[in-house]
Amino acid sequence: MMAGLQQLPCAPRFLVCLALAVGMMRTGSSAAAAGDAPPGKIAVIGAGIGGSSVAYFLQQHFGSQVQLDVYEKDMVGGRLATVTVNKQQYESGGASIHSLNLHMQDFVKLLGLKHRREVAGKSAVFSGEHFVLEETDWYLLNLFRLWWHYGMSFLRLQMWVEEVMEKFMRIYKYQAHGYAFSRVEELLHSLGGDTFVNMTQRSVAESLLEVGVTQRFIDDVIVAILRASYGQSVLVPAFAGAMSLAGAQGNMWAVEGGNKLVCSDLLKLTKANVIQATVTAISLHSSEGKNFYQVHYEDEEGQGSSFYDIVVIATQLHDNKSNITFQNFDPPIAEFPGTFHTTIASIVHGYLNSSYFGFTDPKLFPFTSVLTTDSPAVFFNSMDNICPVNVSSTFRRKQPQDAAVWRVHSQHPLEKQELKILFRSYYSVQVTEWQAYPSYESSKTLPPIILHDNLYYLNSMEWAASSVEMAVVAAKNVALLAYNLWYHDLDKIDQKDLIHKIKTEL
Ligand SMILES: Cc1cc2nc3c(=O)[nH]c(=O)nc-3n(C[C@H](O)[C@H](O)[C@H](O)COP(=O)(O)OP(=O)(O)OC[C@H]3O[C@@H](n4cnc5c(N)ncnc54)[C@H](O)[C@@H]3O)c2cc1C
Ligand SMILES: *[C@@H]1O[C@H](CO)[C@@H](O)[C@H](O)[C@H]1NC(C)=O
Ligand SMILES: *[C@@H]1O[C@H](CO)[C@@H](O)[C@H](O)[C@H]1NC(C)=O
Ligand SMILES: *[C@@H]1O[C@H](CO)[C@@H](O)[C@H](O)[C@H]1NC(C)=O
Ligand SMILES: *[C@@H]1O[C@H](CO)[C@@H](O)[C@H](O)[C@H]1NC(C)=O
Ligand SMILES: *[C@@H]1O[C@H](CO)[C@@H](O)[C@H](O)[C@H]1NC(C)=O
Repeated sequence: MMAGLQQLPCAPRFLVCLALAVGMMRTGSSAAAAGDAPPGKIAVIGAGIGGSSVAYFLQQHFGSQVQLDVYEKDMVGGRLATVTVNKQQYESGGASIHSLNLHMQDFVKLLGLKHRREVAGKSAVFSGEHFVLEETDWYLLNLFRLWWHYGMSFLRLQMWVEEVMEKFMRIYKYQAHGYAFSRVEELLHSLGGDTFVNMTQRSVAESLLEVGVTQRFIDDVIVAILRASYGQSVLVPAFAGAMSLAGAQGNMWAVEGGNKLVCSDLLKLTKANVIQATVTAISLHSSEGKNFYQVHYEDEEGQGSSFYDIVVIATQLHDNKSNITFQNFDPPIAEFPGTFHTTIASIVHGYLNSSYFGFTDPKLFPFTSVLTTDSPAVFFNSMDNICPVNVSSTFRRKQPQDAAVWRVHSQHPLEKQELKILFRSYYSVQVTEWQAYPSYESSKTLPPIILHDNLYYLNSMEWAASSVEMAVVAAKNVALLAYNLWYHDLDKIDQKDLIHKIKTEL
């Protein structure tokens, strides 16, 4: 009796100890046992989806006693943002998420958010003069038409994309087991071997031609999809191309209330210190054999700085974009080559000029999404009839002849004349000029993730492929990398043959 009573309160602790011991045996490391003190303070620069998710993951791994400061110079959410039209909000940046984007799915569950209902609509590809491809009501008929026009290309494309996605999905398993990668190339290699690494070097067109997709299919369909997703040509690398094409297969969703809610809610959940300031420099200091990073910033009240054990940069650094300078680093931190692609998002509330698209009767215009081919006659990349971020169960799309909200993506700001071609008339236009994603032809090198011992660059991943989920995959990787390195758990970094290892670990 006595023994039983005494043991009762200890039992749970015993279980925890056992779990730790088993965990350590499994990794073969003495991480926690080494007695390393946890980091005291961590800084994250940027509160987009990359920055806010890395803050969450860092806290998950290091524990809640670590102080997390997140610097944001503008709006929480970054490239996830909305504009307001008639008291309703609409996505103006990153809009849709794939159903297999498991990190984002987890966040939505964790934060108690909801998927936004998909409101059905049809797409078509416009050449500036006519539609080269139209989606019909009937799925089988669609398949038939694609088959008729393009033979095996359609199937070959699907098989190629599926194979890439299947390999990409391995990352979730690796990350769940705590494995991290010190370079983007290492991460890609562990997922798909040399083929995946090469896919960042060769174009999507080249890869598709190789698997037997025809040039005609590339010109009509692949070009249009890449213009809509990256505003670029089929010369974008095959890996980024595959991610875009996966999105074009459907199964897309968004977050009820706006995708940016994931960022703000993650920051609230972690109780991170969000500091509204522009980071101007990071300088290295050492004392007693330990490195510290001093983060210099400017806010409304002037200049300030703070010291950190670990710093994660969760914004673009190439081309001096974020104006962050690095001081006292020897060797110095190199400049990052490459430029970003500008995409203009115009949110227009108005009446579509269906005659421009060859429909004299506006009531008969059947499409809610218009993609374009690469032709001198077209002055925009894509346009979508969009729904507000809060869609009630009674929401219906407007009749095509009614005023609606359209999001037009273009390379340059639309001139009044151009707006007058697309719209018979309009009530409002709101323009956002995005430094949207890498201009993939401007640099073929993937930037490093580790800039210095405990200084990390999350957005290097964008140069493999830029998307919401890739930013979260990068965030999870950086958090694991920072944790494994802090506790010298080198077995969990850059491991080869992980597919096999994880099978035997289970
Ligand atoms: C028009 C458009 C459409 C897109 N569509 C899709 C889509 O449909 N699906 C998809 O998956 N992806 C899409 N994307 C890409 C996706 O939005 C981005 O890949 C993703 O949001 C990037 O998140 P991030 O956190 O890495 O960067 P960001 O969101 O850019 O966050 C960086 C943050 O750092 C801040 N910052 C910068 N410098 C400093 C400084 N010196 N000090 C302090 N703060 C600083 C910035 O203000 C910003 O908030 C789209 C992007 C655009 C622009
Ligand atoms: C990757 O590229 C290299 C160099 O271009 C080449 O030698 C190798 O065969 C390629 N590997 C695969 C799997 O395509
Ligand atoms: C929109 O949706 C979000 C998330 O579900 C909710 O918090 C918000 O109150 C909604 N706003 C409106 C105007 O319905
Ligand atoms: C960087 O600094 C230059 C010169 O001070 C300025 O013109 C530019 O707008 C800044 N860029 C950003 C992204 O803040
Ligand atoms: C980058 O921006 C910083 C801050 O604006 C500036 O001091 C530095 O000279 C810039 N570097 C280059 C190569 O333009
Ligand atoms: C609509 O498109 C037609 C055909 O391209 C064009 O002639 C007309 O000027 C456009 N604008 C309006 C307001 O009708």
